[in-house]
Amino acid sequence: MIRAETSGRVARIRFDRLDKKNAITAEMYAMLADALAAADADREVRAILLHGTADCFTAGNDLADFLQRPPADESSPTWRFFKVLPNLAKPVVAAVGGPAVGIGTTLLLHCDLVYAAPNARFQMPFVPLGIVPEFASTFLLPLYAGYQRAAELFLLGQPFTAQKAYEAGLVCSIAEDVLGEAEKAATALAALPPESIRLTKRLMKARYGASVSEAIAEEGRLFRERLGSPEAKEAMSAFLEKRKPDFSRF
Ligand code: COA
Repeated sequence: MIRAETSGRVARIRFDRLDKKNAITAEMYAMLADALAAADADREVRAILLHGTADCFTAGNDLADFLQRPPADESSPTWRFFKVLPNLAKPVVAAVGGPAVGIGTTLLLHCDLVYAAPNARFQMPFVPLGIVPEFASTFLLPLYAGYQRAAELFLLGQPFTAQKAYEAGLVCSIAEDVLGEAEKAATALAALPPESIRLTKRLMKARYGASVSEAIAEEGRLFRERLGSPEAKEAMSAFLEKRKPDFSRF
């Protein structure tokens, strides 16, 4: 589930489904979108902190939920989340420890400050899962990291370390006490001039806002198509059945 609370002008939004490694269901996407939009609209809130525990950020989309209820169209909770996070006026700080898989990594491309613990393990296994990357990551990651680094992370889809995420421009800093460091940054942002922060964030994002929306739409169309593909069904069933996928017949 998603937990949200505000104190000291910081809205803290937390993944809380540890038995499934904080995998995100449709219901959780709706809760995330609501919590983020509410924090952005709340005059008391000056910064948003997104986190899991020190050992688990999120394992990304819930694969069982995905197979049963693929996000059908742009009115789905996933798409609402895709619209809300990139368009928040207030700064978003993320704290990542342990796994950050799939959207657990791509959502970070839309956060303003990302802190990672040395134990953080990022992965974008869209290709190994028979689908395509989402959430404008095929536009933003090559922009942040350069084509070669992005291609390695996307095409091979293997897990990577906090150091590699730092080198790819996904992370601003690596910290032992990741929740503490992120909390400190959010509190510092909350004490700075709010309008100046909002304008600076807007200026940094203004030049590529339209490209982000286009990428989200194009990736989304292919993502939905691929979810129904035999390759994706084999990959996701293999994960849930705890066996190796077999792509030899495709
Ligand atoms: N969707 C649904 N269930 C998930 C999940 C996901 N994305 N990630 C983990 N889980 C479930 C597992 O099925 C397992 O459930 P069970 O206890 O009922 O068997 C439980 O969470 C614990 O996962 P487990 O794999 O045993 O933990 P781990 O510490 O060995 O590995 C991960 C953690 C995140 C590396 C691994 O779970 C993983 O690779 N998950 C899939 C990530 C993924 O492909 N996400 C989708 C990207 S689009």
